[in-house]
Amino acid sequence: MAKSIKFFELNTGAKIPSVGLGTWAAGPNAVGGAITTAVKVGYRHIDCAQMYGNEKQIGVALKNVFKDGLVKREDLWITSKLWNTDHAPEDVPKALNRTLRDLQLDYVDLYLIHWPGPDIPSTWRAMEALFDSGKARAIGVSNFSVKQLEDLLAVACVTPAVNQVKIHPVWQQPQLREYCKSKGIHLTGYSPLGASGTPILMNPIVTTVAEKLGKTPAQVALRWGLQMGHSVVPKSTNEARIEQNFDVFDWSIPENLFAKFSESEKASIGGSL
Ligand code: A2P
Repeated sequence: MAKSIKFFELNTGAKIPSVGLGTWAAGPNAVGGAITTAVKVGYRHIDCAQMYGNEKQIGVALKNVFKDGLVKREDLWITSKLWNTDHAPEDVPKALNRTLRDLQLDYVDLYLIHWPGPDIPSTWRAMEALFDSGKARAIGVSNFSVKQLEDLLAVACVTPAVNQVKIHPVWQQPQLREYCKSKGIHLTGYSPLGASGTPILMNPIVTTVAEKLGKTPAQVALRWGLQMGHSVVPKSTNEARIEQNFDVFDWSIPENLFAKFSESEKASIGGSL
């Protein structure tokens, strides 16, 4: 049975499902099955990017889940991202069109600048035009530091709805978190399980809390993100792990154990990207 999902409200008023399926490094042969499994389990948020090289396969899987009546388009949250080679203002709408064609969709719920580029203001103006057109129902950024957000906000008409960054119990990014909160920018955590090499799942605080609660280290890492107010996009193409990563809504990390994470933050170097 599908579990009841929780949402976070963005500065657009839209509600982003708090757990999404990450698709980075999900191979083209495996990604379709992962999408179908995830939708059956109850995921309503898929995190994509043109750069991941699998949006065509995701598009086929989405078409099938709609055709099979598993879910309607309006019940899904689809994010995609503008790649670095498409930052020129005239290339921005073309890139989104390519993504929409590949995903077989009319709009994305959220479109992000994947990485900051040299001329953020002109790229952002082109993103704002996509927002105005309705093809991107929300716009945001990814991998932006406080400084880059400050530069962007100095010229933006539309405040980014989201900054998607690497954030997890071992890389807590306190300054960035504070800044985004003060500006109403929601944080989504990518690599919430530490895909990029940080041994989160073996971190002693994570494993101790997991043991105490009878949960897996992955579930504790994801739940930490949710309790911090971040959405999380764990990647898996394995059915059991897709299911496990979604089983994070009907329990919580109690205050005394949750505090251990902020204690470890004080001792850590996590402060910027
Ligand atoms: P797999 O796809 O075989 O499940 P991240 O989301 O931080 O990028 O991490 C993704 C990596 O973590 C992938 O290698 C994925 O492998 C693995 N992974 C996903 N879910 C879990 C889990 N619940 N426990 C352990 N490893 C996981």
